[in-house]
Amino acid sequence: MAVRDIVPEKVATLRAGKVPFYEPGVDELIDRNSERLGFTLDAAEAVAGAEFVFICVDTPPTYSGDADLSRVWTAIEELPVSRERLILVMKSTVPVGTGEKVRAALDARGLDSVGYASNPEFLAEGTAVRDFLEPDRIVVGAFEEADAEAVEQLHAGVDAPVVRTDVASAEMIKLASNAYLGTRISFINEIANVCELVGADVNDVARGMGLDARIGRSYLRPGVGFGGSCFPKDISFLKLLAGNSGYHFQLLNSVIEVNELQKRRVVGKLQKHLGTLRGKTVALLGLAFKANTDDLREAPSIVLASRLLAEGADVRAWDPVADASQVLKGVSFHDTVLETVTGADAAVVVTEWDQLRSLASTDTREAMRTPLIIDGRNLLDPDEVRAAGFTYEGIGRASSPLDVLPETEEPDQPFPERAPATED
Ligand SMILES: NC(=O)c1ccc[n+]([C@@H]2O[C@H](COP(=O)([O-])OP(=O)(O)OC[C@H]3O[C@@H](n4cnc5c(N)ncnc54)[C@H](O)[C@@H]3O)[C@@H](O)[C@H]2O)c1
Repeated sequence: MAVRDIVPEKVATLRAGKVPFYEPGVDELIDRNSERLGFTLDAAEAVAGAEFVFICVDTPPTYSGDADLSRVWTAIEELPVSRERLILVMKSTVPVGTGEKVRAALDARGLDSVGYASNPEFLAEGTAVRDFLEPDRIVVGAFEEADAEAVEQLHAGVDAPVVRTDVASAEMIKLASNAYLGTRISFINEIANVCELVGADVNDVARGMGLDARIGRSYLRPGVGFGGSCFPKDISFLKLLAGNSGYHFQLLNSVIEVNELQKRRVVGKLQKHLGTLRGKTVALLGLAFKANTDDLREAPSIVLASRLLAEGADVRAWDPVADASQVLKGVSFHDTVLETVTGADAAVVVTEWDQLRSLASTDTREAMRTPLIIDGRNLLDPDEVRAAGFTYEGIGRASSPLDVLPETEEPDQPFPERAPATED
């Protein structure tokens, strides 16, 4: 099997037996299969003799929020013209209708012997290997029955139901799945925000809801909003796809807006306890968009850090694997949690890294200027944190009384300082 990329450093790293990103288990997988795997920069070399060609290139959003399919088109244009029978399998997430366009482009190039199948990928970063090897379902949409059958047979060793559809439906299953998961997150975040106002605890609410078999427990964890390279763009793709097709997808507008506002709620929580943030020191713990990945794409930490800088705070940050130094200018980065919280007026749990479960220690309390923990992931036990001498504020849970406010300042400023327009 040949893997082709266009970035020489990535191919060199892979050839050296290393993985150019952080994803648990991928290195062992590559190591175990090294005899059967080759890495190359050359498209023709990668495709030579292949029965299946998987397109797995990135499909980022354009400035308009639509899918930028330029890499998909480049990969297809680079297919050598040959009469060899092969099946092009689309793994990248693409708008509905892409398969039709690819089919037409292949035919126009005389590649009518090349089959086409949509086989969307549902893995999540951080658990990618398990998700890929043990998926909940395999979706295959093809124009020709024989192509669908061949792609299904490729998955013969995988114990999962296969959903065979037309190409457009397969493309839609992927977009609709991510949009629905994002909707659940925005929904529980709004429930959390209301819980704060009415004195309910969202963790208990989510548990009580999730035990209903019609609802289920997954994706009902409130937090600082979703990020990553998939949900934000895929929801935008679906919203715009609907709009471009003449339908106003109202619900998704709300899902997106709730998520954007959620990323900023931590700022209000900090102001509630600290008053103005100008000159205050805030420690951001975790920068990756979620634990077990180094992916910073659309990470809530980026929005949060930018807002805090705009409010005049000194921002210190830590993440065990994600390197945000090229993205976040004006933030100081530290190697340990303890170093990061030293002298801080607040420690904010932004990513649910396991290392942060022991955050509420004596060392942390003594190192901080103000023992305030804002738990953006509800990772910690509020009672334990308070018993350890901290003021605790989670998401959708009862907050501590305002007992850490410096005497000279007022809590709950009705009109918080405006950030410079460029930061929004
Ligand atoms: N990351 C996820 O969790 C996830 C999950 C499911 C689906 N997807 C979808 O999979 C696709 C890829 O996502 P990703 O996160 O792996 O992106 P990525 O940016 O991490 O990786 C894409 C790779 O494709 C390479 N590339 C670009 N043009 C190429 C070309 N012409 N030939 C060969 N390689 C080329 C890039 O150099 C890069 O290494 C996207 O459509 C995404 O929506 C991603």
